[in-house]
Amino acid sequence: MNFQSLVSIITNHDNHDNHENLPARLMSFRRAFHSLHFQIFKFPHFQINIMIISFVVAASENNAIGKNNELLWRLPNDTKFFKNITWAMPCIMGRKTFESLGKALNGRKNIVITRQDDWKADGAIVVKNIQDALKAAEGTDSKEVFVIGGAQIYKEMLPMANKIYITRVHASFNDADAFFPEINTNEWKLTSNQDFPIDDKHAYEYSFQVWERK
Ligand SMILES: NC(=O)c1ccc[n+]([C@@H]2O[C@H](COP(=O)([O-])OP(=O)(O)OC[C@H]3O[C@@H](n4cnc5c(N)ncnc54)[C@H](OP(=O)(O)O)[C@@H]3O)[C@@H](O)[C@H]2O)c1
Repeated sequence: MNFQSLVSIITNHDNHDNHENLPARLMSFRRAFHSLHFQIFKFPHFQINIMIISFVVAASENNAIGKNNELLWRLPNDTKFFKNITWAMPCIMGRKTFESLGKALNGRKNIVITRQDDWKADGAIVVKNIQDALKAAEGTDSKEVFVIGGAQIYKEMLPMANKIYITRVHASFNDADAFFPEINTNEWKLTSNQDFPIDDKHAYEYSFQVWERK
C-alpha cells in the first residue's frame, strides 16, 4: 500500500458509487490508512491517532466459543495470556459477555455494547452501538483496542478488525451455542503460531495464533 493507492481509495468515485457502499469504502480507507500509519508516524506533524482493532478469542476447531453464556473449557495459560495482552487497554464486549464475566475486568477500560436504554454496570462504559464503542476507545491514549466477544460482536466487527489473537483449542464442541466466524484465509494470514500440549492443568492441546489482515 502506498500513498497513491490510499488517495485512490478516498477519491475513487465511479458511476456506481452511492451512499450504500460508503461504509465499505470507509473500511477500505481505514485498513489502507492503518497499513500506512507506521510510515506516517515517522513525520510527527502528520500524526493521526488511528487505532488497531484487535480481536482476542479462544475457539475450538469447529469455532465454538461458548455455551449457556459460559466458556467451554478452563485453560489457565489462556486466561493469563488474555490478561497480559488486554491489561490497561480498552476492551469492547457485548452485554452478554459482560454478564458472563460477572463483573468488570480490573485494570482495563470495559466498554459494553447494548441496545437497552437503562442497562448499567459498575465499572463499565455502556454504549448503544459499535461506532460509539470505538469512539469511547479512541478517547483513551491507547493505539490498540481489544474486542473480546462474544459471538454477535465478533461477527459484526470482523470487517473492521486488523488483527486476531486466537487461542485455537484442538477439540470440537458440537453442542456449543456461540461460535466465532470462520477466518477467511484469502483475507487473513497467519503470522505467529505456538503449540502447547495437554498437561495436568490443560485438558486440551492448544495453539496461540496471531492472524493479520492481508
Ligand atoms: N471463547 C471466547 O474467547 C469467548 C469470548 C467472549 C465470549 N464468549 C462466549 O460467547 C457467548 C456470548 O456471546 P453472544 O453472541 O451470545 O453475546 P455477546 O456478543 O457477548 O452480546 C450480545 C449482546 O450485545 C448487544 N449487541 C450486539 N450487537 C449490538 C449492536 N450492533 N448494537 C447494540 N448492541 C449490540 C446486545 O445486547 P442487548 O441484548 O442488551 O441489547 C446483544 O444481545 C458466551 O457463551 C460467552 O461465554 C467466548
